[in-house]
Amino acid sequence: MQHRVAAIGGDGIGPEIVAAGKEVIDAAGERFGFDIAWTDFDIGADRYLDTGELLTEDDIRELSKFPALYFGAIGDDRVKPGILEKGILLAIRFHFDQFINLRPIKLLEGVTTPLANRKPEDIDFVVVRENTEDFYVGIGSRFKGVREQKTLEVVRDLYNVKFGLDVETDADELAYQIGVVTREGAERAIRYAFDLAENRERKVTSVDKANVLSDVYGLWRDVFTDVAAGYPDVATEFNFVDAVTMWFVKNPEWFDVVVTPNMFGDIITDLGAMIQGGLGLAPGGNINPDGTSMFEPIHGSAPKYRGQDVANPLATVWAGSMLLDHLGEHEAAAAVLRAIERSILDGFVTRDMGGAKKTSEVGRYLAALVKTV
Ligand code: IPM
Ligand code: MN
Repeated sequence: MQHRVAAIGGDGIGPEIVAAGKEVIDAAGERFGFDIAWTDFDIGADRYLDTGELLTEDDIRELSKFPALYFGAIGDDRVKPGILEKGILLAIRFHFDQFINLRPIKLLEGVTTPLANRKPEDIDFVVVRENTEDFYVGIGSRFKGVREQKTLEVVRDLYNVKFGLDVETDADELAYQIGVVTREGAERAIRYAFDLAENRERKVTSVDKANVLSDVYGLWRDVFTDVAAGYPDVATEFNFVDAVTMWFVKNPEWFDVVVTPNMFGDIITDLGAMIQGGLGLAPGGNINPDGTSMFEPIHGSAPKYRGQDVANPLATVWAGSMLLDHLGEHEAAAAVLRAIERSILDGFVTRDMGGAKKTSEVGRYLAALVKTV
């Protein structure tokens, strides 16, 4: 069996951690009888600085031929914040309608969590982050002056929305950003979370801020309630986002599946990453169940460590395990996770986890382990 996967190393430490991930995935393929045909793409800051190109029409056409993309990291200190993030990473998520951002929060055996006395069985849940809407739609404006008229549009596979705005002000300078939640957009994310919960511990927590942002998150809650009615055997709960940051720390064992709009999902998964042992261990999948999905570590590109072979590849390798799951290679996916766990128990880790190993050494070690664990 052969799978075609596109690899985008991206910026900073991205290419190094993706190289390690590919090695581990290839080794898993040797053991479990499949082969990955990798195609590398040079999308990222270097190309942008050379040619001015972010995500091009050509890229989109080529990438759309793959069921899965393996992505390193984006962000470079030579480029103003926001350009690469929006022009590449978010552009891929939106263009391919990767409406789920799946982020497991799982404490592996041998990992130290900053939460005192917590064990692996206490920290094991998943965050389903809606990935195409909310304050991430990228529409807003910033102006000086008394009046601005503007048309702002969101174009999606699922729907289009157009705002005709006429803003008058006597403020010196003004900026606004519009968040969009639709019934269709919320429903497909929430339904995904309930389907997932049916195969786990049958509990779904909605995280929002419906007490203040009551239009956008009021709609989100209504949709949650409507979807929940179709899953009578799944327990449900609402948490406000400020409170959930407290509960993640105080009672992580309460959570099973957490579903949340895009921006809160971004924020609470960095907290989730920390309680599972740090950003070096946190993977994510940007999923379109019927299209092109993308798997990546949730951390950034750490430009200052670029080329030093010191970055922790475990989050990327774990993202590789999610990629394998997505491709239907479930046994291989499980073996990759066991290899990660084994390497941690062996103390064969990079310096952020208290070890002294190089990125490439960890990759090689995991590639050997995955053939036997
Ligand atoms: C993440 C990142 C991105 C996000 C950035 C780089 C656009 O923080 O994947 O969590 O905000 O979604
Ligand atoms: Mn983030």
